[in-house]
Amino acid sequence: MMIIRSGKNSFAAMPGEKKINIAIDGYSACGKSTLARGLADALGYLYIDSGAMYRAVTWYFIEKGTDIGDPAGIRAELDRIDVRLERRGNELITLLNGRDVSEEIRRMDVSEKVSEISTLPELRAKLVRLQRAMAEKGGVVMDGRDIGTVVMPGADIKIFMTADFEVRVQRRMAELKGKGIEATFEEVAENLRHRDHIDSSRKVSPLKKAEDAVLFNNSELTRGQQLTWARNWAGVRLTM
Ligand code: CDP
Repeated sequence: MMIIRSGKNSFAAMPGEKKINIAIDGYSACGKSTLARGLADALGYLYIDSGAMYRAVTWYFIEKGTDIGDPAGIRAELDRIDVRLERRGNELITLLNGRDVSEEIRRMDVSEKVSEISTLPELRAKLVRLQRAMAEKGGVVMDGRDIGTVVMPGADIKIFMTADFEVRVQRRMAELKGKGIEATFEEVAENLRHRDHIDSSRKVSPLKKAEDAVLFNNSELTRGQQLTWARNWAGVRLTM
């Protein structure tokens, strides 16, 4: 049996212990990446932001001027696209055909188109392949929409996150402001509504809670409290 320390905030990787995989799914802007990154740092694991990969592909097509509503045009280009995530110091860098697009992919025009592009089965198949390869050896915390259901159905720990809508809008506005991106409450709210709808209703890999995921509403918790909760939950879950 896997041994973990699950006492006071002390879930941590043990030397020589098998590395597990952790899947975090949920709605836009409810703090998945903050929690995933925090857990990965605490465990010495790799954080994988699957949404950044979908965003990078979206950025590519916006730059090229491809009609996002033309699946054939997008399919035809897929083999020319190489997406990678690389850790540089404390940062996770998103590379699209070798170019660092980490900042560009957070733009509102990318947010507006990403969910539509992400419905394309061929694109999903390509990115899921890459995501699975990164998780092959364990030691990964990956966040997204289909991680617990499709990318890593065998993940040792699955968390499905949500938060009250207004809280999500406020959090995303603060995040964008920190990046120097201006957006009104209504613009952000409309974008989240739009993406929630497409992500939850698409045919391939819709956003939904895996049966064995724990539901976590973090509306009233600080970042520190969320991390404490997740570390304790991981401790409990692994000894079940
Ligand atoms: O940061 P936020 O939660 O707003 O979004 P994200 O994780 O960067 O993901 C952007 C978009 O990519 C989502 O709204 C989905 O349309 C798509 N996505 C997906 O389809 N599957 C994933 N595993 C991750 C993201």
